[in-house]
Amino acid sequence: MGNVKALILAAGKGVRMNSERPKVLLEVNGLPLLWYPVCAAKAAGAEEVLVVVGAGREEVQEAFTDDGLTFVIQQEQRGTGHAVISAREALSGFDGYVLVLCGDSPFIESDTLERLVSHTERTGAACTILTSILDDPAGYGRIVRGEMGVREIVEEKCADEAQKAIREINSGTYCFRWRDLDGVLDGLRDENPQGEYLLTDAIGLLIARGSRVEAVVSGDPQEGLGVNTRAQQADASKILRRKVLDRLMAEGVTVVDPVSAFIDPRAEIGPDTVINPFVVIEGPVKIGARCRIGPFTRIRGATRLGEGVHLGNFVEVTRSAVSEGSRALHLAFVGDATVGGDVNIAAGVITANFDGNAHRVTEIGDGASVGAGTVLVAPCRVAAGGRTGAGAVLTRGKTVPSGEIWVGVPAKELVRDGHTNG
Ligand code: UD1
Ligand code: CA
Repeated sequence: MGNVKALILAAGKGVRMNSERPKVLLEVNGLPLLWYPVCAAKAAGAEEVLVVVGAGREEVQEAFTDDGLTFVIQQEQRGTGHAVISAREALSGFDGYVLVLCGDSPFIESDTLERLVSHTERTGAACTILTSILDDPAGYGRIVRGEMGVREIVEEKCADEAQKAIREINSGTYCFRWRDLDGVLDGLRDENPQGEYLLTDAIGLLIARGSRVEAVVSGDPQEGLGVNTRAQQADASKILRRKVLDRLMAEGVTVVDPVSAFIDPRAEIGPDTVINPFVVIEGPVKIGARCRIGPFTRIRGATRLGEGVHLGNFVEVTRSAVSEGSRALHLAFVGDATVGGDVNIAAGVITANFDGNAHRVTEIGDGASVGAGTVLVAPCRVAAGGRTGAGAVLTRGKTVPSGEIWVGVPAKELVRDGHTNG
């Protein structure tokens, strides 16, 4: 998509959340609300993603500091129209389309955004609004249509009984030809029951000026929903979680119990991997094909699992790479570790990865076998083919060489009948 920028409105406090934190940082399905529209805007190919921040803006900027966003500050939250006015300077001279999204609308899909742009281009409209038809439209802006198409958007607070009965609602996602929108912003007034400058009124102004305004109904009514309350936050988490699982299942992953599998939207999992009940995956984790995960397994950080890895019950793996065919079947903690292929990590193995100041690395080579209850005090290493006995404590800085078995506390090479193990 050429010549398209995204503008995400995220300055509101989210009063109905009763939170100390800005609403867009509250999590749905493990990620901040704002992550979702940002991700959709990027995937739709927006050349720049601008985010209007206000309430708790330092926190928001901090949380998204690595995401390549342009932050625009709205000093006082005086409405969605006012939020767009705050971005005027950042968009000055821009001669293209601006996708406006709400920071509290996590269901928006990138292909819908692309469709809004192509519809606007094709029809020569000044604006295309994404709408949804809801059984219960309460709380949303209603789309009032006339003979000439969309006539206006009426907010709940301003609507009369007949308008409240309209089930087509404004999703708060639009594609504007920026120059047209920019041309009407000065006409916005805050004389309305909200006492705010409403972006929806800008659409009325465009229509009054004779500009064409289009509305596209979303194929999925859910797409237009916003998150304004804790109850909606919980519902949204559930829906988004299922969406991730549906995507993974379509890609060939078996999810034994979708009710108890919590998988980060950024996770990638290869085909024929089985996710057993009560698995939690947090972070941009990559899991190869034919793995078996769970039940009761937690995988975190940027962990990578090769093909055919098997992690069983009560195993936690964080910030680690585990190569093909390795196993940790029961009660283990593997953190900041590099684990080779075909390694066996027995029950109760712990990488003691934190020395009180920093996380330290453990290396376990191909074909190694770490005995039950071994504590690996990082930094330390078990070389390829090395082994530890049950209960060994491999102390900091030590290496179990290839082919040796180390046992005891602190672990030393096992010597039987005066002979070392070869
Ligand atoms: C808005 C729409 C409504 C639509 C609904 C969809 C308006 C006037 N109303 O209502 O038609 O049905 O979204 O969810 O646009 N924000 C700012 N600065 C402000 C005010 C709001 O950045 O001064 C941001 C908020 O952080 C939020 C978004 O704009 O992410 C929408 O604001 P919100 O107050 O939630 O609007 P709604 O009442 O939900
Ligand atoms: Ca909202």
